Amino acid sequence: MIFYKLSNDLRDEIRHLRTLGKRIGFVPTMGALHQGHISLIQASALKCDVTVCSIFVNPAQFNNAEDLKHYPRTLSKDLELLAGFKNLLVYAPDEVSDVYKTDEDFAIDLGNIGLVMEAAYRPGHFNGVMNVVKRFFDLVTPDITFFGQKDFQQCLVVKMLIRHYGLPIQLEFCPITREQDGLAMSSRNEQLSSAERAIAPAIFKALLHAKEQVPVLSPHEIRKQVLNELQTYPDLLPEYFEIAETEYLHPVESWDDALNIVACITVRLGKVRLIDNIILK
Ligand code: PAF
Repeated sequence: MIFYKLSNDLRDEIRHLRTLGKRIGFVPTMGALHQGHISLIQASALKCDVTVCSIFVNPAQFNNAEDLKHYPRTLSKDLELLAGFKNLLVYAPDEVSDVYKTDEDFAIDLGNIGLVMEAAYRPGHFNGVMNVVKRFFDLVTPDITFFGQKDFQQCLVVKMLIRHYGLPIQLEFCPITREQDGLAMSSRNEQLSSAERAIAPAIFKALLHAKEQVPVLSPHEIRKQVLNELQTYPDLLPEYFEIAETEYLHPVESWDDALNIVACITVRLGKVRLIDNIILK
């Protein structure tokens, strides 16, 4: 593993790798790395000669100053975790200005994806994601980029971004990595108290329950059932549970409305916001 703090140094190395004809994979992260991130790096290592992993808590995608302040930052632990990886370049800038060299706005109109679920609950969030991801793409110029399917809506946003700018980047969605009890791995899990951590697997249980009911119950009935089920946990507050087609996240009323359908959920557990999803068909 080689560690870069400065984008100019990384850019020089990438130019050099290109002259050698190397295939470059890219895994963007905000640090506090866990097995989910490692699985993305491993997926990249299988298909690319060199992987670039960024570790950068992007202020532009936080719509809540407290959330940004408390977001876990564990750089030395992260670097320890990555130390043994070969052909891995880690870009972890000290300064926001190393990423945001200009104030150009790369956000695009996302249509329905920019209106629902995360976009509705975190205004401006995806504009921040698009701005940082586009800057990273321009810096790293990856052949393939790897994103975790846990952030399903983000995956669709990045797909639209790549399409809009005509970037020659292949996008791979990687499966959600879960704890043994089903909780989707997330840097935010660290922020749960032990009582909250004990409740958290209820989220995936509810998603599994939803999937079991397809196609016997309608999307509307499943939604009602899941929200009722989650209400039995006093500390767990669902923000949304939506059943939608997988391309633009339009809600579906019947299982025949679309070929592929996903259930997406976000809950608040104490002060922590947790997100998860499951493909229903
Ligand atoms: O998914 C994340 O961790 C972030 O949104 C990303 C893609 C690294 C951009 O800051």
